[in-house]
Amino acid sequence: MKKVGIIGVGEYLPKKVLTNADLEKMVDTSDEWITTRTGIKQRRMVGRGEATSDLAIKAAKRAIAETSIKPEELDLIIVATITPDMAFPSVACLLQNALHAKHAISFDISAACAGFVYAIAVAQQFIARGGCRNALVVGAEVLSSITDWKDRNTCVLFGDGAGAAVLAEAKSGGILSTYLGSDGSKADLLRLPGGGSRHPATQATIKKRLHFIKMQGNELFKLAVTTMANAAQQALKRAGMECKDIDMVIPHQANMRIILAMAKKLGLAKEKIYFNIAKYGNMSSASTATALCEAVKEGRIKKGDVVLLDAFGSGLVWGACVIRW
Ligand code: ACO
Repeated sequence: MKKVGIIGVGEYLPKKVLTNADLEKMVDTSDEWITTRTGIKQRRMVGRGEATSDLAIKAAKRAIAETSIKPEELDLIIVATITPDMAFPSVACLLQNALHAKHAISFDISAACAGFVYAIAVAQQFIARGGCRNALVVGAEVLSSITDWKDRNTCVLFGDGAGAAVLAEAKSGGILSTYLGSDGSKADLLRLPGGGSRHPATQATIKKRLHFIKMQGNELFKLAVTTMANAAQQALKRAGMECKDIDMVIPHQANMRIILAMAKKLGLAKEKIYFNIAKYGNMSSASTATALCEAVKEGRIKKGDVVLLDAFGSGLVWGACVIRW
C-alpha cells in the first residue's frame, strides 16, 4: 500500500458577515448567550445567487495552486456536503467541469459534519491501492440555505464556507490512520426532513417548516463529546500513538464547549487545538476543512507534526484521522 499525504490546502469564505448583534435583531437571543453557550461571535453568509459549488471552486483552485498538479491531471474529486446546489448532479461533477479536470472520477459524500474526514479516508484508499495518483477533497456548505431564521435554537449556530485539500502519494509520513463510524439509530437527533423522497416539497411541507434543520442540541452535545474523544483514541491506537504524541488537533467546530470537554477527556492542552468557530460558526463539512487550511497557513502545523482530524455529525457519523505532516 502506498503512503498518502496532503500536499495542498485552500479555503474560501463568503464575504458577508452575520454577527451576534445582527442575530439579536432577528430572534430572541443575545451576544452573551451565543458566546458563552457556543463560542461563536460571527459567521459568513453567501450572497444572492451564490451556491455550494461556487465556494467549492474557489477553495479547490487555491488548494491546487499550492501543488504542481494541473487540474487536468486530477484523478479523483470528492466533495463532502449536505447542501449541494441541487439533488443531482453532484457538486463534484460541477466542480470537475469548472476546473476542466476532465480525467477525474467525481462524486459527493453525504456524511454531514464528518464529511471532510470521510472524504479524506475514501481518497486515501483510492491512492494507497494505486487506483488514483491524486485526489481533490472538498468540504463545502451553504448551511444558510437550510437554516430556519425564526428558530433561535439553531439559527445562531451555522455558517457558510468551503475548504479543500489535495492528496497524493507521499514519500514519508502522510496519513497514518483513519477511524470512521456511524449509528443510524440516532438519525432523528439532527436532520433535514423535507425535500427528499420521504417528504417531497409541497405547500404543506413548507408550512410545517420541514425544509429547515431540526436538531436536539442537548442530546447531541453529550454524544459529540464522548464520540469524538473515542474516535481520537481509536485513530491514535491504529497509528500506534498516544495523545501526548499529537502536535495539533483539528476538531469539528460545532461548539467551543464540546471541543473543550472532549480535550479534557483526552487530557489535551487547549494550545494544541485549532479553533475557528468564533469567526465562522458550524459549517458542517467545511469546518474541519477550513480549520486545517488555516492552521497550516498560520504556521500552527509544521512539517513533521502529528495532526489529528476529529469530527462528528448527523447520521450519526464520526471520523478521526492521524497525519504526519
Ligand atoms: N438564545 C437564547 N436562548 C436560547 C437560544 C438562543 N439562541 N437557543 C436556545 N435557548 C434557550 C433554550 O430555549 C433553553 O431555554 P429554556 O431553558 O427556557 O427552555 C435554554 O436556552 C437552554 O437550551 P439548551 O438547548 O439546554 O442549551 P445548551 O446549553 O444545550 O446549548 C446548543 C444549545 C448550543 C445547541 C448545544 O446543545 C450544542 O451545541 N449542541 C450540539 C450541536 C452539535 O454538535 N451538532 C452536531 C454537529 S452539527 C451537524 O452535523 C450539521
